[in-house]
Amino acid sequence: MVLKELALGLLGFVLYKAWKIRRNFHSINVPTPKYTTFLGHFRLVDPLVASIDHQKEMKGIKTFKQRLIFFNALVSYDINFIREVLSVQNLPKSHTYAEIETWWGKGNILTSQHENTNWKEHRHILNPIFRTAAIRKLRDIFQKHSNKLVKVFESMEGKPIEIQDIIQKATLDIIADAGFGYDLGALDDKSSDFLTCLKEQINLLSSPLVLFPYGGHLVKWANRKTRKVVDDVINRVIETRIQRNSKIENQNEEQQQQQVRDILDMMLMADQSYDIETLKSDLFTFFVAGHETSASSLSFLIYELAKNLEVQENAFHEVDSVLQGNPPSSDMDLMTSLPYLMSCLNEGLRLYPISGGVSRTVSEDKVVQGIFIPKGTLVETNFFLCQRDADIWEDPNTFNPSRFGGKQPSSNEFFPFSSGPRICIGKNFFYEESLVILSSILQNFSFTLEDPESGQPQQITGLLKPNKVVIKLTKRSKKV
Ligand code: HEM
Repeated sequence: MVLKELALGLLGFVLYKAWKIRRNFHSINVPTPKYTTFLGHFRLVDPLVASIDHQKEMKGIKTFKQRLIFFNALVSYDINFIREVLSVQNLPKSHTYAEIETWWGKGNILTSQHENTNWKEHRHILNPIFRTAAIRKLRDIFQKHSNKLVKVFESMEGKPIEIQDIIQKATLDIIADAGFGYDLGALDDKSSDFLTCLKEQINLLSSPLVLFPYGGHLVKWANRKTRKVVDDVINRVIETRIQRNSKIENQNEEQQQQQVRDILDMMLMADQSYDIETLKSDLFTFFVAGHETSASSLSFLIYELAKNLEVQENAFHEVDSVLQGNPPSSDMDLMTSLPYLMSCLNEGLRLYPISGGVSRTVSEDKVVQGIFIPKGTLVETNFFLCQRDADIWEDPNTFNPSRFGGKQPSSNEFFPFSSGPRICIGKNFFYEESLVILSSILQNFSFTLEDPESGQPQQITGLLKPNKVVIKLTKRSKKV
């Protein structure tokens, strides 16, 4: 009897919630593309396909509603709407981030809410570590792994090769080494429990479970063994580092600074009282947030360079004349010394913003760009459509690095790294790392596209990546 009453109560509660969500959603006064009653916009399973379809159907209306069974969202690719959500109002992150947090680790810099937490102080400690001058100290590490990548490419010269996977190994090696001095050996195809378990953990990001309440707990529990292997290694590295640091405690600041080699050193140096659990989850976050994003961006760019040979030619010219056949010197400001390559990176990020967009939740009733949005609504900003919006970008679907004229676009109109206070902290890391990798490749090889089916963007994992990029490399004889 009690059970029956409990079940009826629960059913009533679920129905009430469903009714409330539906009523709130109806109160948002923007149109919605056609949907089926039960499944809604089922094609939202691939948000990229859905957003392109909906854009066509909505004919110029840039903010619209999307439905998928339990998930209703207000989607926008209107530049002013996106700016207001991310910069002006800085709306809280959506519930999915809370699910990811239970699994990545509490309080990490990416998933923690900025409302009612110490996110701001946390970011304040990390910001100097990711400034260009600090990231430049990691250049030797970027160069070491780029040289390895060139060696791997040399062994494949003249054959059709799929590069996404190879570049991802390089960016994994780089983040392990630059993050906490760990020799992962992914490019050398070393096998280790750590690498296998780390890859499994990273792949969990594509789990649809994180969309549901308590899904993060389920993901964490079901994969606790692989996580333990990863945690054990990170713990050991941190312990060894803390022991080493206690030995150099008496040295002056300059001597201590000379021993800083990676991000972990910088974190320990920046704040002696860094909470160890937060430190661990931050390192894990840098791993996940910082390698596939970079690898996919570089793969898309190489695809475009292989298709647009005159752009590739311009890139050779800049790299050869600035670097004269050498690796960049440690004091060179690469971002200003290689403006054309920077424009190529930005044009790649414009056409293929890897995160697609970011999601936020309205924690109290709000008005954004004149649209009333009731409390609890999920808001999806769509960078992909915004950065291909013909009202903003001339000839938007054409790869044309010259449109930036060598200047860095403002984060108020160009969103691959998001915008506002929660803008990607790793963007300088990405630019430095990519300039070193790209210039090493361009100094050594020219390349052509082998498979015309290559380079199609897909978003099955939540992040945009190319279906494949198959190219053929030819060794360049003349570098200067
Ligand atoms: C092409 C490369 C990259 C892209 C496109 C990218 C994109 C983004 C985006 C869109 C966000 C905002 C997420 C949100 O607010 O919901 C973000 C945040 C973040 N990214 Fe990146 N990212 C890249 C590379 C990196 C790298 C290399 C690292 C670390 C080494 C990194 C670490 C982070 C962190 C820690 C945050 C959270 C910052 C905060 O909330 O305070 N990212 N990234």
